[in-house]
Amino acid sequence: VGGKLWGGRFVGDVDPVMEKFNASIAYDQRMWDADIRGSRAYVKALEKARLVSTEEMEQILQGMDQISEEWQKGVFEIKPGDEDIHTANERRLKELIGAPAGKLHTGRSRNDQVVTDMRLWLRDAIAALTVHSSNLIRTLVERAAAEIEVLFPGYTHMQRAQPIRWSHWMLSHAVALSRDVDRLLELRTRVNVLPLGSGAIAGTPFAIDRELLRKELAFDGISLNSMDATGQRDFVAEFLFWASLCLTHLSKMAEDLLLYSTKEFSFVTLSDAYRPVHPKRVDYVVFQCAGFMMTLKGLPSTYNKDLQEDKEAMFDCYDTVEAVLQVATGVVTTLKINQSVMEAALSPDMLATDLAYYLVRKGVPFREAHGLSGKAVFAAETKNVSLNQLTEEDLSAISPLFEADVSSVWDYRSSVEQYGAPGGTARSSVAAQVEQLRSWLQKH
Ligand code: ARG
Repeated sequence: VGGKLWGGRFVGDVDPVMEKFNASIAYDQRMWDADIRGSRAYVKALEKARLVSTEEMEQILQGMDQISEEWQKGVFEIKPGDEDIHTANERRLKELIGAPAGKLHTGRSRNDQVVTDMRLWLRDAIAALTVHSSNLIRTLVERAAAEIEVLFPGYTHMQRAQPIRWSHWMLSHAVALSRDVDRLLELRTRVNVLPLGSGAIAGTPFAIDRELLRKELAFDGISLNSMDATGQRDFVAEFLFWASLCLTHLSKMAEDLLLYSTKEFSFVTLSDAYRPVHPKRVDYVVFQCAGFMMTLKGLPSTYNKDLQEDKEAMFDCYDTVEAVLQVATGVVTTLKINQSVMEAALSPDMLATDLAYYLVRKGVPFREAHGLSGKAVFAAETKNVSLNQLTEEDLSAISPLFEADVSSVWDYRSSVEQYGAPGGTARSSVAAQVEQLRSWLQKH
């Protein structure tokens, strides 16, 4: 019957096509370290329960050390019949230490083993993503602080709307990314729960000390129900959604930069190392997230082989978002801004709202002021001049409240300074955003 771990009840050989179809070793080998950490902890619980002797435990731990070394050196040999990382490591352990290897899986199932490995792996992945995200946020924040004086047009549905600070744009992306980090750390609390000791479905029939396992593997808590622990993958779905949302944010930033870097705009020049900015990878991650939800939606309770699909989705999304975060940091670090072009793109029509505010400050109800400002825009269009070229007579014909001091409206710097309430684009408000994000960064 061959040396298959689960092969005892089969007669004859497994169809090799079926074997290949069933296998996940090609991609789940990246969890080799998590798998070994899980087994090292598990053998300690077995020893405590007197299911292996102290000597057998030592043999298993030493064997695990050697397997770990083989993986690290890249010499671990995957053999035909190694269905997944769990069977491969156990097969190798048996080659190295013989009979005691057969005791390691006592009371354990690949069903609780695989989900333990995934949670350990994802926990490390989350730590790495937190660092990459924070690097990007820091880059945006420090650049915003350094370039706080630069103004440029803010757009709504692609039309020039109001003058804003360039740093206000950068911080708008930093703020969204800081929520992504917060969300990632929230989902980490649900990832960092120990499933080991749940067995195949019913739990463990032996005196396995799950609290010992929790401590050994540094989980925050222990899963409450063995069927839930082995059969649910909501923590994976949450991570895939997280990656999708984070990439959606990065894609928004990339689309802006694509536009700002066109010949027509020329607001920024991207470093050669990062041309062209390519935000479209987000589609693929969203597709992985949606696809995995499709896998989950039809499954009955507890472990089903379809769940093996969770790993490719998790790895793919991780690899993509990890790369994109680093590329985005490189793009933001190296891009050059063309301040004179940005400021030359400001035009008086963007101050129509300010013209209305001028009247509001003289007691005119906003709706009425807005209408009068609209009339001024129309008058300028009719005369074929820009808004700030209307004469005092032109304006006083629209409203007697327009006086000589209306000329103060046509200054972009004083325009942005009106927006001093928290969250606005005035210098003081943007500086406050920088400070708040800096202290957020210190805590992450
Ligand atoms: N390779 C499997 C997976 O990725 C491990 C669990 C297999 N369990 C089982 N009962 N066949 O999910």
